[in-house]
Amino acid sequence: MPAIAVIGAQWGDEAKGKIVHFLCRRADLCVRFNGGPNAGHTVVDAHGEARLHQVPAGALHPHCLGVLAHGVVLDLWALEAELAELAGQGRPPPRLLLSERAHLILPYHRRREEREGAAQALGTTRKGIGPAYADRAARRGLRLVDLFHPERVEERLRAEDGEEAAQVLAELLRLRDRFSPAVGDARAALAHALRAGQTVVFEGAQGTLLDLDWGTYPYVTSSPTTVHGIPWGTGVRVEFAAVVGVAKAYTTRVGAGPLPTEERGAVGERLRESGREYGATTGRPRRCGWLDLVALRYACAINGFTHLALTKLDVLSGFSELKVAVAYRWGGRRREDFPSSADELFHAEPVYETLPGWGEGIAGVRDFSALPKAAQRYVRFVEEFVGVPVALVGTGARTEDVIVRAEILGYT
Ligand code: IMP
Repeated sequence: MPAIAVIGAQWGDEAKGKIVHFLCRRADLCVRFNGGPNAGHTVVDAHGEARLHQVPAGALHPHCLGVLAHGVVLDLWALEAELAELAGQGRPPPRLLLSERAHLILPYHRRREEREGAAQALGTTRKGIGPAYADRAARRGLRLVDLFHPERVEERLRAEDGEEAAQVLAELLRLRDRFSPAVGDARAALAHALRAGQTVVFEGAQGTLLDLDWGTYPYVTSSPTTVHGIPWGTGVRVEFAAVVGVAKAYTTRVGAGPLPTEERGAVGERLRESGREYGATTGRPRRCGWLDLVALRYACAINGFTHLALTKLDVLSGFSELKVAVAYRWGGRRREDFPSSADELFHAEPVYETLPGWGEGIAGVRDFSALPKAAQRYVRFVEEFVGVPVALVGTGARTEDVIVRAEILGYT
């Protein structure tokens, strides 16, 4: 069965890039459907470490076509720079298909983001994501297809960029010409591929708790990050063979907003250092804490995950005990549900269960039975609590550092 969704189950940075790259070893298409260059998907393979922002992670495999569907917001300048960086690593140029309906991020979007204060108040990635999606909804956005009819583009640029408009337009037309062989009807191509039985991996960006509607609003990104973003952002109706939620074995978040299990002291510091928890897009230190199973169970409910990938389990090696949040306490009561209000979540105190840790390093382990008993128990506790099997366990940065516990895509 050919369609697989890979969705962040926390606040982003769950190591989706690695999981997508792994699953795309036999995929024909890898599709980004939401977000833009705010994403930072890291892949470590034979060529070294690639930090991807717009290029779909699967497209690092020469056999896999990378699709940027119409739900993404596209920064052509950033895409050009990203491709140059990949070429600098000696990689073959990824094959790409860019939806002509995708909205463009323009220099004035980044300026507006600073001016309106969202960058500071929410701790955004400063890539112009919010303003670009806002223009789209307000029906004043510019799409890739508009570059082939430049009169309207010129008019918009004159209104936004004043004297710089001519220069921005000239650059946009150069970028249009450079990318025009890759521009097309992504929906039709995708529908055709699915009909033909090709294997398609949908690569979510950010995570469920940053979703515009299901996340910790207003501390969220401006697009749907859940599985529901796939029909929204691609225009195809998909029967998924698997909906894989990717969750880190602990919790991180960048930017502002509630994070009930945050550890501000030595535990947080240790997770940050051993997990190299610095933003792939902005370099900011990530806020770190224990695994939040209330939040994870909520993400499972929103997305209907059929499988989980639990990543970076190796980072937990060496803790004598490990905590996992199994409920919250707020308003003087124990609560099992994930609140809709960020204000309530700011006041939620985690109720922890303590599990035994393990001393052994487990980096690169590929066999579940080779994990220390306490690590096996940790994984089993997670899947039993949320009711979704952990099919993949990440034990290191490289694509092959993964334990496969169930058949997904026929991998064994
Ligand atoms: P924006 O997407 O740049 O508007 O940022 C909104 C919020 O989402 C901020 O808290 C960002 O730190 C967060 N965010 C956006 N993209 C990512 C990502 O790929 N990983 C983690 N956090 C992200």
